[in-house]
Amino acid sequence: MSFGVKGRALRSAAFAAILAAAGSPVLADELFYVSGAVGKAVENFATLVKPWEDATGHKVTLVPMPASTSDQFGQYRLWLAAGAADIDLYQTDVIWAPQLAEHFVDLTEAAKDLAPTHFPSIIESQTVDGKLVALPIFTDAPALYYRKDLLEKHGKSVPKTWAELTATAQAIQDAERAEGKADLWGFVWQGNAYEGLTCDALEWVKSFGGGQIVEPDGSISINNENAVAALETAKGWVGTISPGGVLAYQEEEARGVWQTGNAVFMRNWPYAYGLGNSDDSAVKGLFDVAPLPSGTEGGPSAATLGGWNVAVSKYSTKQEAAISLALYLAGPEAQKARALSESNLPTIVALYDDADIAAQQPIIPRWKEVFLQAVPRPSAPTKGKYNEVSAKFWSAVHNTLSGNGTAAENLELLEVELSDIKGDGWK
Ligand code: GLC
Repeated sequence: MSFGVKGRALRSAAFAAILAAAGSPVLADELFYVSGAVGKAVENFATLVKPWEDATGHKVTLVPMPASTSDQFGQYRLWLAAGAADIDLYQTDVIWAPQLAEHFVDLTEAAKDLAPTHFPSIIESQTVDGKLVALPIFTDAPALYYRKDLLEKHGKSVPKTWAELTATAQAIQDAERAEGKADLWGFVWQGNAYEGLTCDALEWVKSFGGGQIVEPDGSISINNENAVAALETAKGWVGTISPGGVLAYQEEEARGVWQTGNAVFMRNWPYAYGLGNSDDSAVKGLFDVAPLPSGTEGGPSAATLGGWNVAVSKYSTKQEAAISLALYLAGPEAQKARALSESNLPTIVALYDDADIAAQQPIIPRWKEVFLQAVPRPSAPTKGKYNEVSAKFWSAVHNTLSGNGTAAENLELLEVELSDIKGDGWK
């Protein structure tokens, strides 16, 4: 492994039991946990796992991954296909369960008391053919971040439709630039060609009544005129209310512009809420969040369902300790700590009534309804093919946004490509 993990002799559970019975302390394990990260998640990890390390005597080392979930997926797949024993736990995106299920330990039995305290739909999303492949550590649903001070100054209200957002962003951007704020942009979001663009574009399409790419019954629905209208709307933002560079933005680039005070609106996940209110933020206290706009007047708002989980590798030689860590990270103590420090949405129902969380991170209780109604990406119906489907979708969207073909042309081609991937049925 590139990070030079030293092999460690396998200690079986039976051997540990003998040691314990003989009164000797059970030897401590060192676990390796891989995770991508945005915001301060890597810095906060040591504090998060400290109580578990103290209680068990084991140690955890975080192996950081690139921020892009698509890049993480590629790396994880290589390690898992090679049966790498050096990684004990993987932090996994909500969409990966069906594709990686075979490499992970079934946690059904270990989590039989914990799982019923989580939202059933989230546990369901991590269950593949009856096997619980990962335990949820937080869920995700995006918000429209808006600058209260700028809307108030220019006499505007929070936009309810994308057309309203476009007009308001343009008006405030023009007026502020005329006053010398040369770096101000109307709207920042995730336009890079990766999984994040699939999330943003699914929201545009769904909110215009254009479906969810592939429907729950497996049918390919993306080539329709509402989806075309949605993508053409977004294309109109590039270089007008959004910088041309938005086509290379992931979550952190958007947050960078926003948190230095250079955007009126931002589409981002709840993690940006706590960071935006931190002492080093130029927008501390100046913003609020709302559901994303609708495609049409009175039409639906759509938020893509995100979220992260922890899975135990089948190839780990320290599975007992790894399962204990997974239960801790998915449990109430760690989820509360994560909610407070990172404004991540818990997956444990009772934490939405927690007074400390509501006081410190008010977005959390407000966002319960948003994530419960969030739109899943088609990872369940497309089974082992989701990553290919998503990559084709984000490429078609990225081409459209870059002026490489019209939305109508790109979606027509996408339909053909997805039909080829599907073949005689999703597998
Ligand atoms: C967030 C979501 C995750 C999604 C990713 C896309 O991390 O929680 O589900 O895939 O953003 O960039």
